[in-house]
Amino acid sequence: MSKVTFFSGEQTPLEMHKVRIVQKLNLRPVRERVSAMTEAGFNTFLLRNEDVFLDMLTDSGTNAMSDKQQAAMMVADDSYAGSATFYRLEARLREMFGMDVYFPVHQGRAAESILAQTLITRPGMVVPMNYHFTTAKAHITRVGGVVEELVRPEGLEVTSDLPFKGDMDIDALRACIEKHGAENIAFLRIEAGTNLIGGQPVSLKNFKEACGLAHEYGILTVMDASLLQDNLYFIKMREEACKDMSIREITLEIANQFDCIYFSSRKLGFARGGGMCFRDGALAETMKAQVPLFEGFLTYGGMSVREMEAMAVGLDESMAFDVISQAPQFIAYMCAELQKNGVPVVTPPGGLGCHLNAREFLPHLDDHVYPAGALAAAAFIAGGVRGMERGTLSEQREPDGTEPIAQMELLRLALPRRVFTLSQVRYAIDRVTWLYQNRHLVGGLRWIEEPEVLRFFFGRLAPIGDWPDKLAEQFEKDFGDSL
Ligand SMILES: Cc1ncc(COP(=O)(O)O)c(C=O)c1O
Repeated sequence: MSKVTFFSGEQTPLEMHKVRIVQKLNLRPVRERVSAMTEAGFNTFLLRNEDVFLDMLTDSGTNAMSDKQQAAMMVADDSYAGSATFYRLEARLREMFGMDVYFPVHQGRAAESILAQTLITRPGMVVPMNYHFTTAKAHITRVGGVVEELVRPEGLEVTSDLPFKGDMDIDALRACIEKHGAENIAFLRIEAGTNLIGGQPVSLKNFKEACGLAHEYGILTVMDASLLQDNLYFIKMREEACKDMSIREITLEIANQFDCIYFSSRKLGFARGGGMCFRDGALAETMKAQVPLFEGFLTYGGMSVREMEAMAVGLDESMAFDVISQAPQFIAYMCAELQKNGVPVVTPPGGLGCHLNAREFLPHLDDHVYPAGALAAAAFIAGGVRGMERGTLSEQREPDGTEPIAQMELLRLALPRRVFTLSQVRYAIDRVTWLYQNRHLVGGLRWIEEPEVLRFFFGRLAPIGDWPDKLAEQFEKDFGDSL
């Protein structure tokens, strides 16, 4: 964001856009919130949006579009093959990443599936990465691959003042390659702006070191750029060597380290869709057939051309510092205010959202009763705020049925870009603070229906005891007839 100093001296993030289309929100009374949560099986994914006040579940497909994106949608070229829209989008991506080949895919996980199916050629092949994302891991393990997470150790510490907690541990990467042998490594995956550990960024220096090392051994390098725009902001703000570089220069310098870049444009580019870019046409050829087979013809990849036009403009907007600063600045504000109130959050503040540390928030709950899941349910009861559990519940059981305990037990309150006003953020801070004061009332959860794959999406749970009613009772005592 442009630097604007308030006369009062206050450090307040300031929107560099104005709202021109609005959506009405509903804030249900607390008892109705308990009923809605009960119907949703204590899984925030299963809530109906009409019962939600602030939808902080995710930034995926929920970012606000600009007037220019909307306008671009009107000139989309609706053709199955050879659409002019495709060529416009391809040109934007070439300019941004300096890569020749672009394959459109319907969303990020489609790219993950294509990469896994093509590059994991036999069971047991290893994919080292800074940290996994749920769908990336699911696709790798589905075809027999093995994920090795090599984020630097501080990345898994909840609180820190380290600017780049998403960096790879370079020594660990070297050891991993030596241990398995380069021929058994399918590819190196680096996730810009690590989703599951608090949206923590990777430095340009680390991108270079990790990819340089992989290339020494002839290993392919792949970036998951879904959260790249937040990562770009942090590089510009926190990496001394980059402070005079433009966002475009930083983007290109990162891209230069990779053989392939894939992304979800539900996040990157303020639209809905995805893509894969390749430096080398021969590598792209190995995956080409899968696009028309599973996605759609090579010039639309299962996406609406309107979304592709919006994506092209959105990607361009992501190269503007004012645009990419909005969400990280709101997140930093939210984290700082919560910290003042004693609420445990992941620090330093990262991208994507404000992350509450459920283990410290609810220390009386054992990991096996899902503190982050319980906190997600309680935050909805407290304020109609829908967050996403990012902890043990989001993990998958081992084949023998044992439950892997997540390294971090977080509730993510996402701040989709350009969506919420500061007073809405302040409301969320208020209700989370109230919840923190009443945390002793929150109990755990147990499964009633547990799917085998990606259980967090559609699994159903129940509260252990009647804590949701007790929480609602306390709410009524403290807030009277306020919603
Ligand atoms: C880092 C990261 N990679 C991949 C994906 C998958 O993208 P999509 O939801 O478009 O399939 C996501 C989605 O949240 C993500 O955050």
